Amino acid sequence: MNAAIRAVTRAAIANGMKVKGIYRGYKGMITDEITDFETHNVSNIVQRGGTILKTARSEQFKTPEGMKQAYDNMMKHGIDALVVIGGDGTLTGARSFAQKYNIPIVGLPGTIDNDLYGTDTTIGYDTALNTILECVDKIRDTASSHDRLFFIEVMGRDAGFLALNGAIASGAEAAIIPEISLQKDQLTEMIKAGFRNSKNSSIVLVAESEVTGGAMGVAERVKKEYPQFDVRVSILGHLQRGGRPTAQDRILATRMGVAAIEALMEDQRNVMTGIQNDKIVFVPFAQAIKKCKPLDPNLFQIMNLVSR
Ligand code: F6P
Repeated sequence: MNAAIRAVTRAAIANGMKVKGIYRGYKGMITDEITDFETHNVSNIVQRGGTILKTARSEQFKTPEGMKQAYDNMMKHGIDALVVIGGDGTLTGARSFAQKYNIPIVGLPGTIDNDLYGTDTTIGYDTALNTILECVDKIRDTASSHDRLFFIEVMGRDAGFLALNGAIASGAEAAIIPEISLQKDQLTEMIKAGFRNSKNSSIVLVAESEVTGGAMGVAERVKKEYPQFDVRVSILGHLQRGGRPTAQDRILATRMGVAAIEALMEDQRNVMTGIQNDKIVFVPFAQAIKKCKPLDPNLFQIMNLVSR
């Protein structure tokens, strides 16, 4: 997100605009945490994880009074357009705000979950994926030394992108993801397919979700139904949300940040910047939020094919 903040600030200044930084997202719009942003405010941040602007979840922004307060503060600071960065919640808030107050808003997709429709990838996803690989590589040493079956839970909030692509890239034996768990009992299938036939240790990535039961849920089942396996669980948690962003994420965020300013100059409003086949596109908020982003089923077959 810092690379995006830097790009938005510098592209705007280069085009003669004035920039304000709003701390803590919509919450800070309500509590008036708004300051001038110059080129130097975004120096030395491209390599840092997290966000220098901080972030917060705001229930108040969902109320008419909260939105009104945010709008009044915007007017006080002379803000006439907004660039927001975040996931589903951020874009949903932006959409409602734009509908009520007729403000031009451009959104940047910032979420490790990669679950926004209309963009091949989101800011933060590649970094999280690489963190997952680093962790799985380390856990594999224990798994193989002890001949164990590891269930490693990754984030994704009901989307299986991190788990499935993490499994392919780390050479895991399987991925249990909500998109497929809804249709069939993945654990039984995996065991029936003889996933231990040629291997003594195994790694299974499990996407966090009520549908999958998470790594704990799956491991409990295995302990009861298949007591012959020596099972361990590892939940990667918020490790996945920090750290130095990858080159790919920095480039993506920079391209999208610059595109957001171009979009505002072209009078585009209420769109999210996306990337499709390496080209920047603009996706209406309504689509980005409402439509479910499909996961390529071929990827699942590829994982199965190469993990046996
Ligand atoms: O939506 C991004 C995400 O990282 C999810 O993958 C995860 O479930 C959630 O946010 C964690 O949120 P919090 O930090 O508020 O616990």
